[in-house]
Amino acid sequence: MTAPKVLLGVAGGIAAYKSAELLRRLTETGHSVRVVPTGSALNFVGAATFEALSGQPVHTGVFSDVPSVQHVRLGQEADLVVVAPATADLLARAVQGRADDLLGGSLLVARCPVLFVPAMHTEMWEHPATRANVATLRERGSVVMEPASGRLTGKDTGPGRLPDPAEIAELARLLLERADALPRDLAGRRVVVSAGGTREPLDPVRYLGNRSSGRQGYALAKVAAQRGAHVTLVAGHTAELADPAAVEVVKVGSALEMRDAMHAAVKGADAVVMSAAVADFRPAALAAHKIKKDGSEPEPLHLALNPDILAELVAAREPGQVVVGFAAETGDDTADVLEYGRRKLAKKGCDLLLVNWVGEGGAFENTENQGWLLGADGGETQIPNGSKALLASRLWDAVAARLA
Ligand code: CTP
Repeated sequence: MTAPKVLLGVAGGIAAYKSAELLRRLTETGHSVRVVPTGSALNFVGAATFEALSGQPVHTGVFSDVPSVQHVRLGQEADLVVVAPATADLLARAVQGRADDLLGGSLLVARCPVLFVPAMHTEMWEHPATRANVATLRERGSVVMEPASGRLTGKDTGPGRLPDPAEIAELARLLLERADALPRDLAGRRVVVSAGGTREPLDPVRYLGNRSSGRQGYALAKVAAQRGAHVTLVAGHTAELADPAAVEVVKVGSALEMRDAMHAAVKGADAVVMSAAVADFRPAALAAHKIKKDGSEPEPLHLALNPDILAELVAAREPGQVVVGFAAETGDDTADVLEYGRRKLAKKGCDLLLVNWVGEGGAFENTENQGWLLGADGGETQIPNGSKALLASRLWDAVAARLA
């Protein structure tokens, strides 16, 4: 299989320095990347950096390498265009269809998915001119990412930060897997996602935990936010994942903390997805001090049953609210993964259940995932292997269809 061709446009903003890391991630994951900066981007990062990291020449204007008609060829050949950072000026120029540099020309020629990743000051992002430009680009079929919130170039903070390069790379891969994975069909919706594993404390230094990385739940939150939803992510322990852009993150430790956070977050929500690996049991007693060994046999560990948060959320479901559960199954001699999934859907009473296989090499600690999406209406859709973001996009398709 030939490497997917990505055209990485870089506009002239301070976040241009992060495009070097994005470039590295894209090349390391097997993409062939051609970097097309604007002239002003080269004030922030030198062409040599992009050339060395991409292994390809870097030009900004339409008069370089004229015989190969680059301003037409690069856009035509691309499987995906990512513009990161996309400044307010770049967005305005893209709306106007300006073609007086190589990036502008390439954007006009490209017929592949286009991902703009804005980065600018909050005032610029919120200005009616930029809002209108973003709306126009989205109407024309481009994906314009919601920026992250946080520290900007000066002392100010607010929406307008470039999202984490890993998150941009994840969405870029998603658009290559599925060009229409990020419609704005969750705009105006409020969704709640739980992710990661809970930690059940035994004493101040020890806990019972599990192998969940949180990646699937984080992918669900990212994809929902980029499809326009207001997202609350209730996160247990994860593999040190960065907070997704434009997502409200609530960090919790134990199952009991997750239960409280979920009950608070789901009030008025349109959809709830329980993808967290909630511990079924917790140590019955929490020691106030570190348990010491004294040479004798240790006491047996007594466990108490944790509440089933998903079952509680189903019982408390508000009218029209869509509740989605996950099932982590290995299958055994008596029933396979899918059969266990069907039983769990019936038992839990949720609207949708995503059944995962979690044996060796399965969903845990893996960047890929696959499974079956089972509906309370009897629908069964197989989700072939792909990125966790791809699985997330399929799940939100089903949720959006139920909300519509
Ligand atoms: N879940 C929950 N609260 C629990 C246990 C699980 O909300 N105490 C949720 C999970 O987030 C998931 C679903 O229930 O959405 C199924 O989790 P899973 O571990 O597969 O099933 P269990 O109910 O624990 O059943 P079993 O372990 O017997 O397979």
